Amino acid sequence: MDEAGTVYGYAVAVDPRGRLRYGHVDGRTAEFHPLWLRERAPDPATTDPQTGQRLIEAADIPLDLAVTDACVENDGVRLSFSDGHSTVFSFAVLDEAISGRAEERRLWGRDLTPLPQADAQAVVTDDAALHAMLEALDRYGCVIVRGLAATEDGMSPVVDRIGPLRRTNWGGIADVKAIPSAYDLTMTARHLEKHADNPYRDPIPGYIFLHCIVNNAEGGDSEIADGFAVAERMRREHPEEFSILTTVRPRFRYVDETTHLEHEGPLIELGSSGEVFRVRYSNRTETVDALEPDVLDPYYRARARFHALINSPEMTVQFKLGPGDMIVMDNYRLLHGRRGYKLETGMRHLRQGYVDRDTLQSRRRILARSHKKAVS
Ligand code: OGA
Ligand code: ZN
Repeated sequence: MDEAGTVYGYAVAVDPRGRLRYGHVDGRTAEFHPLWLRERAPDPATTDPQTGQRLIEAADIPLDLAVTDACVENDGVRLSFSDGHSTVFSFAVLDEAISGRAEERRLWGRDLTPLPQADAQAVVTDDAALHAMLEALDRYGCVIVRGLAATEDGMSPVVDRIGPLRRTNWGGIADVKAIPSAYDLTMTARHLEKHADNPYRDPIPGYIFLHCIVNNAEGGDSEIADGFAVAERMRREHPEEFSILTTVRPRFRYVDETTHLEHEGPLIELGSSGEVFRVRYSNRTETVDALEPDVLDPYYRARARFHALINSPEMTVQFKLGPGDMIVMDNYRLLHGRRGYKLETGMRHLRQGYVDRDTLQSRRRILARSHKKAVS
């Protein structure tokens, strides 16, 4: 379509209540509230051009404000308001508002092979490679970075490209290996059933960086499942159980000699549009309150179903990390575990760190400004 067609394919009108009626060139229509338009008017009297932050007090706009006139002007719509203000919205801004964020998640099961991969050297030296890695992480919830140094802080060059590590009571980068004085089941050779890390923290760690230094003992394979795919299956196939898991809020707890952490939330947490926002599954640390048996009964049934699906072969990808490999996981989405291993057959030493959600997502968005088109 030529440019004039694009412009004149839009239809704008004001309805009797002073709302903007907007007809997109592709046939979609939307109504915009006058206050919604007025409070984000893209002119320097309303919105600071340098910071993009609002200058006027939105709560002071008269609640009966109306759009009084709308007409197409160049590649946008000029609006007049009953408070005398006039501004121009571009079609692009209005289109984005009615489209929402493009759904870029890809849900997966056992068929996620090969796992999304990135090369450490490329990620450290090339912004496009770092951006591709962070986009893969956003889309699939995990990415394997290969070629790191198999040394204690070998993950640092990659982490430093993204942002600060979160420090916890375990420090920054912490050991994952069997030790006699284990204060967490992580530090044994035992099988770790699939879980989200640390739902007892507030905030819950956003991303996990799990880096392998040595892994030559028999066993110790990693297992992951897409918690969002499992939750969506529950929603489709067992809607009542799904609903229970979104409403009962168990508490998660971690206690050692110097630390006592607690945080609560549902096993499946929904976002504002009803989408799955976060899953929590941590058998080791979940402690549901002594609720009425009639509440607990369906909760236990639903939790058992969730567990069975999380651990079903068709939802599981299994692999073994080698020296210099690191898996990065979205801890709101992925459920991860490891097979038990035999200490007497070799060594297993991994290192783990966390990066906050806002830190990593900010990096991804900033890189997207210049590298978006490079991602398929
Ligand atoms: C953990 C964990 C995985 C592994 O420490 O929480 O999931 O492979 N470890 O040891
Ligand atoms: Zn873990």
